[in-house]
Amino acid sequence: MNTMWSLSVFCLLVSATYATQVCFEGLGCFADGPPWGGTDQRPVSILPSHPDEIGTRFLLFTQRNRYYQEIMADETVEASNYSGMRTSRFILPGYLLEGDEDWPQRMCKEMVKRENVNCIAVEWKKGVKTRYAQAANNIRVVAAQVAAMITFLMDNYKQTAGKFHMIGHSLGAHAAGDVGSRIPGLARITGLDPSEPYFQGTSAAVSLDVTDANFVDVIHTDGLPFDPKLGLGMSQSVGHIDFYPNGGQLMPGCSTNRGDPSDLDAIWLGDKKFDACNHVRAYEYYIESLEKPQGFMGYPCPNKDSFADGKCFPCGHTECPLMGHRADRFTGTEDTSITKYFLTTGSKAPFRRYSYRVSVTLAGPILPNVGFMFVALVGKYGSTKEHQLHVGTLISGRTYELLLDAQLDVGDVTEVQFRWNNHIIDPLRPKFGAEKVVLQRGKDKEIRSFCGRANVAENEVQSVLLCEV
Ligand SMILES: *[C@@H]1O[C@H](CO)[C@@H](O)[C@H](O)[C@H]1NC(C)=O
Repeated sequence: MNTMWSLSVFCLLVSATYATQVCFEGLGCFADGPPWGGTDQRPVSILPSHPDEIGTRFLLFTQRNRYYQEIMADETVEASNYSGMRTSRFILPGYLLEGDEDWPQRMCKEMVKRENVNCIAVEWKKGVKTRYAQAANNIRVVAAQVAAMITFLMDNYKQTAGKFHMIGHSLGAHAAGDVGSRIPGLARITGLDPSEPYFQGTSAAVSLDVTDANFVDVIHTDGLPFDPKLGLGMSQSVGHIDFYPNGGQLMPGCSTNRGDPSDLDAIWLGDKKFDACNHVRAYEYYIESLEKPQGFMGYPCPNKDSFADGKCFPCGHTECPLMGHRADRFTGTEDTSITKYFLTTGSKAPFRRYSYRVSVTLAGPILPNVGFMFVALVGKYGSTKEHQLHVGTLISGRTYELLLDAQLDVGDVTEVQFRWNNHIIDPLRPKFGAEKVVLQRGKDKEIRSFCGRANVAENEVQSVLLCEV
């Protein structure tokens, strides 16, 4: 192995103009020519580092494990709590946020709390913490190692490729894609904000794409162009279904990325003050979706502006997919041209939201007033906070509409609470109220009608109940 390594370095020195390669025992050879280097998207040709310099580890979590067990493609698997009867999920990180470098272990722990799987957190910190172009090539060695591990498991536990799911973030998403090129028929690959530099616009051999697994689902959270906006994630849709939470570019609660694209290495290594909040949200959403999958429903939509305008609400003719862990429950639409799904999340954990369209027909004095209106939804599991329905003129007889993203799933809504105010002292003591409320639920188009009875004075809560039929 070392001889081959030295030999390749030798080749590199003597003939820089020719494509060179490195070979590693059990993993095969890696060339630096096209499509891996010397292309428009990858001008610099770089060979991957030696496996010793990458230091890949496989950390197994199962429901029987109190701690993780490190496994290798050998008898350590037999000695572990790995079971060939279960589905296996590999978590492949990329960008490492300081203080949260072990998020794959966090994800595995959450996963085995809820399902009986083998969850394997792949660690390759040394291979990540290098200049970006080098890390972007090191994923090829990591992918070969993961593929070797899967081959070993398939051979020894009579498992098919359909029992394996790769979840990769950032560069790890492309590593997952590379695993899929090596092992045909993987059940699923989830790409969590797949990284853009060195991958967007490259051939399917290089980046994650639909040919890499039977089902490829992608979450985009940092999709602004890297040059000049420093978005680390791809905007291109590359999966069978691609989710664009909050439009996929800027996440609520995160600030815009600042810096210069020429600082890519410093940004990647965390040397430069850089807030990777948008990039890492992708795995935060996924982890939360393990607990509350229904809070991440994606709406098919051509683009983020149509979604923001409410044009893609509610879910169309069929069910909608759930972003995150349960995305594979989606049976799909007939129309394969629809692959983009949009949704709104909160600005901090919990991120999940439950969407409704609320239409309120106002009743009140003939003379219009100015003011604010609020609504809250009440159901068997509790009540949402108040959401602002309107600010401005309050006109009796007019219908006001709001797309409401509730933090809480209240269950079937049995009451809508209405309140208004304007902080104006008015001796006439005007009263307003919701004469009628039509509530449409996003997930299934279900419509409920509520009928108001008595109008209320400023800051009093009107309880609007289901209309009697
Ligand atoms: C593996 O499972 C056994 C049986 O449940 C348990 O006693 C043991 O602690 C587990 N190993 C680890 C490393 O957690």
